[in-house]
Amino acid sequence: MVMTPANKAILEITPYKGGDSKLSNVDKIYRLASNECPYGPSPKAVALMQEIASTSHRYPDGGAHELRQELALSYGIEQEQIICGAGSDEILSFICAAYVSPGDEVIYTEHGFLMYRISTLVNGGTPVSVAEKGLKADIDTIIAAVTENTKVVFIANPNNPTGSYLTKAELAELHAQLPKHILLVIDGAYREYVDKVDYSDGCELVASGNVMVTGTFSKAFGLGGLRVGWGYASPEILDILNRIRGPFNVSGIALAAATASLKDKEWLNKVVEENNKLIPYVTEQLEKISLKAYPTVGNFILVDFGEDDKAIAADEYLRENGVIIRRVAAYGLPSCLRITIGTKEDMDFVIANLTEFMQS
Ligand SMILES: Cc1ncc(COP(=O)(O)O)c(C=O)c1O
Repeated sequence: MVMTPANKAILEITPYKGGDSKLSNVDKIYRLASNECPYGPSPKAVALMQEIASTSHRYPDGGAHELRQELALSYGIEQEQIICGAGSDEILSFICAAYVSPGDEVIYTEHGFLMYRISTLVNGGTPVSVAEKGLKADIDTIIAAVTENTKVVFIANPNNPTGSYLTKAELAELHAQLPKHILLVIDGAYREYVDKVDYSDGCELVASGNVMVTGTFSKAFGLGGLRVGWGYASPEILDILNRIRGPFNVSGIALAAATASLKDKEWLNKVVEENNKLIPYVTEQLEKISLKAYPTVGNFILVDFGEDDKAIAADEYLRENGVIIRRVAAYGLPSCLRITIGTKEDMDFVIANLTEFMQS
């Protein structure tokens, strides 16, 4: 068959491999590979989705007015400066489509989210991965990598899969040091989980310049299956991104569920509280079996097995017993595995299995 040749840059892309969700050998599966919320969506959001399902023949509100209004209220930001997307992945792809052309460089850190590289390549740009220090983004290294071709810098804060974060002061420092024509994107997919006093999602930097903050409903709000995310930036940036956005890019059910989830602070608080209670517990249990768990402020934990083969063997052992977690070799961490923080029962099951594995 004669095929139309694909764009050359596309052939450099290794397709993003999401966390698996199926295993054939077991009855019960523990899905801890994709940083999903183990408690599900807010029951109020579920009730609303059921109620409005029969109106699905109508197109959604293309301007996402109610959701943007609720986001503005919840995060203390300007409604007119918010754009919604089919997951925050779509917002990230809008950014690259708008600002990255062949010859342009896009900086992200070596253990940063894989979609930064993919979206850059899709648009013919050059991905520039810079070293981290102690599994944390390093401002000096980022600044040293800037060239006259740099267009965008992506920072996930907190970062997936390391679980580390830049403080408010460090973010401000990075912003201050970056040349003003470079767009700084602060990806806050896990922001809701962070309860550190020195943390900021970076929204305060938007007023002063070339900064875009992104967020998602896929993690703490438990709506990964619906695909809703958002971005916050200056009216000038929004004007550009809205030229790319499809007219009805977020479905009506997704918009309604996201809005209801934002209003249900009680559910969100419960989800975050349970997660943050489990992190020290899981860390301690892992240390008891001589596994290094890196500090995390997200809903996942990075566990170091010391050797690449041992991490692979642990992953296989867990799979045989029904637990799916995430290999992170593609993130430059081949001796590690990333485990999503599930329920207490999920975590006890994982720890029991890892204990057996370490003794075998
Ligand atoms: C750091 C980071 N950013 C963005 C995303 C994209 O999430 P979504 O497209 O579901 O909003 C993820 C998903 O895992 C992530 O880990």
